[in-house]
Amino acid sequence: MTPILDLVAGARPNFMKLAPVVRGLVTEDRVGFRIVHTGQHYDPSMTDVFFEELGIPAPDVHLDVGSGSHGVQTARIIERYEMQLMDRRPAGTVVFGDVNSTVACALAAVKLGVPVAHVEAGLRSFDRTMPEEINRLLTDAMADLLLVSEASGVLNLRREGVDDSKVSLVGNVMIDTLLSQLPAARERGTPAHLGLDGGPYGYVTLHRPSNVDDPDTLCTLLNLLHELARKMPLVFAVHPRTLAGATRMKLGSLIAEGQRGLICLGPQSYLDSLSLLSGAAIILTDSGGLQEESSVLHVPCLTLRENTERPATVTLGTSRLVGNDPARIRAAFDDVLSGQWPKGEAIPLWDGKAGERVAAELAAWIGRRHHL
Ligand code: UD1
Repeated sequence: MTPILDLVAGARPNFMKLAPVVRGLVTEDRVGFRIVHTGQHYDPSMTDVFFEELGIPAPDVHLDVGSGSHGVQTARIIERYEMQLMDRRPAGTVVFGDVNSTVACALAAVKLGVPVAHVEAGLRSFDRTMPEEINRLLTDAMADLLLVSEASGVLNLRREGVDDSKVSLVGNVMIDTLLSQLPAARERGTPAHLGLDGGPYGYVTLHRPSNVDDPDTLCTLLNLLHELARKMPLVFAVHPRTLAGATRMKLGSLIAEGQRGLICLGPQSYLDSLSLLSGAAIILTDSGGLQEESSVLHVPCLTLRENTERPATVTLGTSRLVGNDPARIRAAFDDVLSGQWPKGEAIPLWDGKAGERVAAELAAWIGRRHHL
């Protein structure tokens, strides 16, 4: 019987990573798979539209966990995924990235003796105040196969004492999705539909707790965006978490739809987001994915964080860390406007073939384990 792998996805950034691995596994006859959706993200605009646009088969299992505090959300995923594992034990569990679904399913699996593979292993921001950093450290400590997207990840894992035999540098699966969807995204013409025909514009996303959970910080950033939007129109795709925070803090009017300059929209689909990104003159973001994508597309990226777990986007790509201090952000914005920004170099193995390499590694891994 063909061994079956569980592929776990739950939150928006997982879906672009899942799609190329699914494509790779479809042509891999040594292993089968089933898709487990935890339901961490549940708004259609945060999940369904990604499955449709990226051609991902509907999930075989849906855990429907929804939102909650970190403890509640993580615990609910562990409990519900454990029930699935006991019902139908896979040959291995594959988790992606650094969200709560990643660490929760890895923990449920490893406790039942189901081996775990981690796609996007080894990344470290060295900032333990970030929930994602805790998720990354714990998931890698539990994983039996660690598939790494950039060279820094291999060094981090070695420093942490992970045996080299468990680690493989496979490249960035998210870039597979970008390269395969780019023609469709460009054809979509999202900037033109927003009335941005021809002229330069910027694209903005913000959702990290460090930027959106504190009223003073969020208020300062939103006012700064309005100021910068007077120099160049900015499209702001507002994450539900940011909208919820701004509304609670009575800052909702600063991100109301229908304003000039700072064009505020809801969460964008993958193709709309890529369409906006590929035509943009500048990106302002705290998203890991957008740092990577803008580097590949050679679009200058102001990363509103003090650190990054994706250092290749700074050393080779187009990202600069600017934190959330208005003076730094303003200065960097002006550097971009005056053309003082590196164009960025190619990042090794971000070549559109990472999904195939991941599928081959997974099949070989399961093969080795079955012959133990
Ligand atoms: C999660 C990930 C983060 C990732 C981000 C991308 C963790 C710890 N964080 O953050 O790493 O960069 O996804 O989007 O896993 N909400 C909705 N609808 C949804 C989902 C969320 O309205 O479909 C709102 C709810 O108010 C919820 C809040 O967003 O409480 C936060 O959602 P959650 O999944 O906890 O974390 P994100 O901020 O989305």
